[in-house]
Amino acid sequence: MDGTWPQEIIEKAWELGIMNNHIPEEYGGVGASYLEGCLIEEEIAWGCSGIATSIGANGLAAAPLLVGGSEETKKKYLGMLTEAPKLASFCLTEPNAGSDVSGMRTTAVRKGDTYVLNGSKCFITNGGYADWFTVYAKTDKDAGHRGISAFIVEKDDTVTVDKKEDKMGQRASNTATITFNETEVPAENMLGEENKGFKLAMMTLDRTRPGVAAMATGISRAAFEMATEYSKERVQFGVPIAMHQAIQFMIADMATKVHMSRLGTWNSAVLLDQGARNTLESSHAKRYAADSAMEVTTDAVQVFGGYGFIKEYKVEKLMRDAKIMQLYEGTSQIQRLVIARETLLPRRVEEPATA
Ligand code: CAA
Repeated sequence: MDGTWPQEIIEKAWELGIMNNHIPEEYGGVGASYLEGCLIEEEIAWGCSGIATSIGANGLAAAPLLVGGSEETKKKYLGMLTEAPKLASFCLTEPNAGSDVSGMRTTAVRKGDTYVLNGSKCFITNGGYADWFTVYAKTDKDAGHRGISAFIVEKDDTVTVDKKEDKMGQRASNTATITFNETEVPAENMLGEENKGFKLAMMTLDRTRPGVAAMATGISRAAFEMATEYSKERVQFGVPIAMHQAIQFMIADMATKVHMSRLGTWNSAVLLDQGARNTLESSHAKRYAADSAMEVTTDAVQVFGGYGFIKEYKVEKLMRDAKIMQLYEGTSQIQRLVIARETLLPRRVEEPATA
């Protein structure tokens, strides 16, 4: 609520092994399946999705490394996350390149054995506390999405944290602007091939959107449970309000949305675990679970009536937290765009679904 950074909780999560879920055992991780990751993310988000975001963001930074990194890079940077409770951030978004990823302006220019990075990335989860960053930058300014490359960048004096956002919800998570000022990166820290970073970003989001959908399911479930309990206790017109059909229909819709969000989420994760491409299913899951979280939390506030609007009751926090689900890792509109394209023009992608 007050925006305190949850360092102790992050350390505890790391100790328990519920961070860095998908890092394989050979790099010191637990190598959990995507389905198992979703179970963890739903449970943590049921308690607090801000904490879930802080704990889960390493997964977003690590995914492109798992897909496109060399053996040495994986050992070094994934090892950093599994040997100590350190954090890494995924740097894709820029002030003028949110949904339109290929509009980014950050540049990476080859200089001998290094690339020199310049530019600013915004809305970076854990940005203020990260030890390394997965950064997307233009290596060919005139080639649109075919001119983007991805790099692992270590925090040093040339990497500055410019702004910490004061957010509506998920106040336990850190969201910052990170600027790279003539930042030199060894050429071996490039992930995959030069100018192939856009696809790496898309393949990353295919892998991480099920986790966001799981968090949205956790938020919905918390709101649904609170509304259900309250409706059985609150008496109006001489009976608990759960006896009124107006409330019963809201509770029924909430129950269906939680159930369907979870099934869609698990489906998108199981496909990944089977090595199949899940672009369509992960957008279905993320879009439906996020929009449902907004609807379910809004209805939960409605069931609580005036009390729902008061900070003393947790449903108002859930409603504020739910909003980001429709925004980060691709807005609900972008998910619909992906769903429409995948439905109307199914693409054959050569890359394997898993590294
Ligand atoms: N897997 C592999 N390749 C893919 C792919 C996928 N899922 N999706 C697209 N591609 C490939 C295409 O096949 C195409 O390949 P060619 O170059 O061979 O033609 C190429 O990528 C370009 O694809 P599009 O033409 O579809 O690209 P586009 O410019 O129209 O963009 C988009 C598509 C879906 C809108 C994409 O830009 C997008 O997902 N935008 C949203 C970005 C987003 O989610 N940002 C959130 C950042 S993370 C975050 O929120 C931060 C945080 O800390 C929580």
